[in-house]
Amino acid sequence: METVNYNYAIVRSFITWSIIWGVVTVLVGVLISFQLVLPELNFAPYLTYGRLRPIHTNAGIFGWGIGSFFALFYYMVQRLCRTSLWSDGLAKFQLWFFNATIITAAVTLLLGYTTSKEYHELEWPVDIMVVILWVAFAINIIMTIVKRREPQMYVSLWFMLASLVGVAILYLVNAAEVPVSLFKSYSAYAGTNDANVQWWFGHNAVAMVLTAPPLAVFYYFLPKATGAPIYSHRLSIVAFWSLIFMYLWTGAHHLLWTPVPDWVQTLAMAFSVMLIAPSWGSVFNGYLTMNGQWHQMRENYLVKFLILGITFYGLQTLQGPLQAVRSFSSFIHYTEWVPGHVHMGAMGWVSLVLFAAIYYLVPKIYGRELYSIPLANLHFWLVLVGQLIYSISLWVAGLQQAGMWHAMNNDGSLTYTFMEAFVEMYPYWWMRGVGGLIYLVGILVFIVNLIKTAQGGKPAPEAIQNA
Ligand code: HEM
Ligand code: HEM
Repeated sequence: METVNYNYAIVRSFITWSIIWGVVTVLVGVLISFQLVLPELNFAPYLTYGRLRPIHTNAGIFGWGIGSFFALFYYMVQRLCRTSLWSDGLAKFQLWFFNATIITAAVTLLLGYTTSKEYHELEWPVDIMVVILWVAFAINIIMTIVKRREPQMYVSLWFMLASLVGVAILYLVNAAEVPVSLFKSYSAYAGTNDANVQWWFGHNAVAMVLTAPPLAVFYYFLPKATGAPIYSHRLSIVAFWSLIFMYLWTGAHHLLWTPVPDWVQTLAMAFSVMLIAPSWGSVFNGYLTMNGQWHQMRENYLVKFLILGITFYGLQTLQGPLQAVRSFSSFIHYTEWVPGHVHMGAMGWVSLVLFAAIYYLVPKIYGRELYSIPLANLHFWLVLVGQLIYSISLWVAGLQQAGMWHAMNNDGSLTYTFMEAFVEMYPYWWMRGVGGLIYLVGILVFIVNLIKTAQGGKPAPEAIQNA
């Protein structure tokens, strides 16, 4: 039988770097949370809230999120195609270029160079680095799929391809700009067109970075973790195509009640509500895979992370469409409710699924048993509690804030001033900081467990063959 030389070295390196950027994300997240309640923490001009916030969001989405997807895509594509990577050299180049890009991004953002478009803050020279990085990645994955030795394409490969193509199109269209100096450019679009393109990019970044890749990971690792095949391949493919089709129309739900034409807003609203179906197609597929396996929620720490992860995805994709309805949007838009929504997805859905996948992989690629399952369980509870404190306190905060902004006296004047509503937020912001600290401790437990596994866990050499 022909043996395949899987490249696990690149997977190991990307996992290490993505975890490093994950720690940066959470550390900065905790710091900016406390900066909001303790302004004296804005102690240095380059480390104020305004400069650090985009560092947090970029490190979270591009460093921790995409960095982990690089690792996991490289692992999954080799296993699902039963073939080695198309180019080990290109993957190695991509690893170093990835870190160079993230560092350049962080430095330029700290220096205040920004396009001021959310999630696309990087100025044009860094944009070019991102494009080179993505092209290298896409070529390597696509060419590996082309030379696959497994005729069937499992649904994870479809989600991976969607993400590769989707991110490329979104990024390039939104990056159209006119450079006027080395670190300053102006958008090629003007006014409402600019806003429309930006949020078409913004929400589809959620689709192609924070939805399609974690779904690829979920569909691959749930059967691996449970030992049971996915409930329905047909449902997974139907959910895939309908999700990809519908997401592309929803961006303007970020622009409800703005000068963007009404029909564009209504279209986005309708497609957002329709998105419940394909999103829940995957949630049901996950739950039904657990038929007869629910006892594993008690016994198998990987299953806990994955099932809680898909549950947060399910909740997120009910809450999101609700926020996209004009009447509800007019209430919660601009309030603390929205970061509550974001972090149920970021700290709940995306991160829980990533933790599970990394726990599954590390013992395989190091050929050692996980150092401590009790520590993995402790990690699970810490991040779950931390995330719930974060999201729930901000949802309550958002509702109170919206209520106070909308309250009116009989004569039509506002009941509360902006400042009165503002100071009411302090207790919730403290709670967010505390939730963030608990989450951070959880991540440190995770890292200790992984380091101990890599350094001294019980050898399990056969693990590599059975991976
Ligand atoms: C059916 C799926 C979803 C729909 C229809 C949806 C809808 C929305 C809406 C309407 C907003 C704007 C809220 C406002 O500012 O008034 C929003 C914000 C956001 N959502 Fe979702 N959401 C969905 C799923 C997700 C998922 C899975 C994530 C993953 C983490 C996510 C991440 C975000 C982020 C990051 C923002 C903040 C954007 C900003 O900076 O303003 N969403 N979502
Ligand atoms: C302990 C964990 C975390 C803490 C304490 C934290 C804290 C924060 C804070 C304070 C903000 C600013 C909110 C505002 O402007 O009102 C924020 C925004 C954001 N964070 Fe986090 N964060 C954490 C984890 C993460 C992770 C893991 C990710 C991504 C994978 C992430 C992605 C984002 C995004 C996309 C936003 C922008 C939200 C918006 O515009 O509504 N965060 N975070």
